[in-house]
Amino acid sequence: MLFDSHAHYNDARFDDDRFEILNSMQKNGIGYIVNAADSMESIEKILPLSDRYPFIYVAVGVHPEEAAELTEADMDRIKEFSRREKVCAIGEIGLDYHYDDVEKAVQKKWFDRQLSLAEEVNLPVIIHDRDAHGDCIEILKKHDIKRIGGVMHCYSGSAEMAKELMPTGIYFGFGGTLTFKNAKKVRAAAAEIPLERIVLETDCPYLAPEQVRGQRNSSLYMHYVAEKLAEIKGLEIAEIERITTENAKKLYKIP
Ligand code: NI
Repeated sequence: MLFDSHAHYNDARFDDDRFEILNSMQKNGIGYIVNAADSMESIEKILPLSDRYPFIYVAVGVHPEEAAELTEADMDRIKEFSRREKVCAIGEIGLDYHYDDVEKAVQKKWFDRQLSLAEEVNLPVIIHDRDAHGDCIEILKKHDIKRIGGVMHCYSGSAEMAKELMPTGIYFGFGGTLTFKNAKKVRAAAAEIPLERIVLETDCPYLAPEQVRGQRNSSLYMHYVAEKLAEIKGLEIAEIERITTENAKKLYKIP
C-alpha cells in the first residue's frame, strides 16, 4: 500500500473527474493521501474532501507564491483550521526563487511565521524549497524541526544539503522528478539518504513520472516512483512500499 505524502486534488485539473479518480484509489493500492493546501482559498476546498474520504488527510498553509497578500488574520484562520481532526501538517510553506512574483523578503517573513505557527500548534511542516536552498536552511535552523517534524517536499537539493539537514530529523519527499531522464542529482541524493527518511509523493496534478510525462499526474502513477526508488536502493518494490508508508505515517503522526 502506497502513501502519497503530497497531492493537490483541489486543483481545477481534477474538476471533471475528482470523485471518480478518488473513488478508485484504494482498489489501486493507494492507502493514504495528504492533500496540501497552497492558498487560503484552497483550504476551504480541501477540508470537504477529507470529510468525504477516510484516507485523505490535510495540510493547511500558504505556498510562497501565494504569500504576497497574507495577514495576521490569515494566521489566526490557519491556526483555527489546524485543530480539525484530519489536519496533520502545516503546509505547503517555504521559498520559491524560481519565479520573481513575490519579493524574497516577503516570502521569508511568511515562511518563518508559518514555521512558528507549526511550533505553536505542534504539527509537522511540509516545506517547498525551489532554488532557495541557502535561505531555506538558514530559516529552518531557527526552528525546532526536531520536535515538530517535517518533510522537504519534492526534494531537489544535493546529497550534501541532505546531510546537513539530517540532524533535524526531517524527511525527504521524492516524486515524479526521481524518474526524469535528466534528474541525476535527484537520484544521487535519493541514493545517499537513508530509506528510513524517505517518503513518496506525487505533487499531482504536477510532475507526472517520465513514463507519462506531460500528462496530468495522480497518485495512480506513483508506482513508477516506487519502482525507481527500488532500483536505486536495490530493494524489492514491496519493501519500498512498506517502509515509505511507515515513514509517512510517522511523519504525519497517523496511527
Ligand atoms: Ni505541492
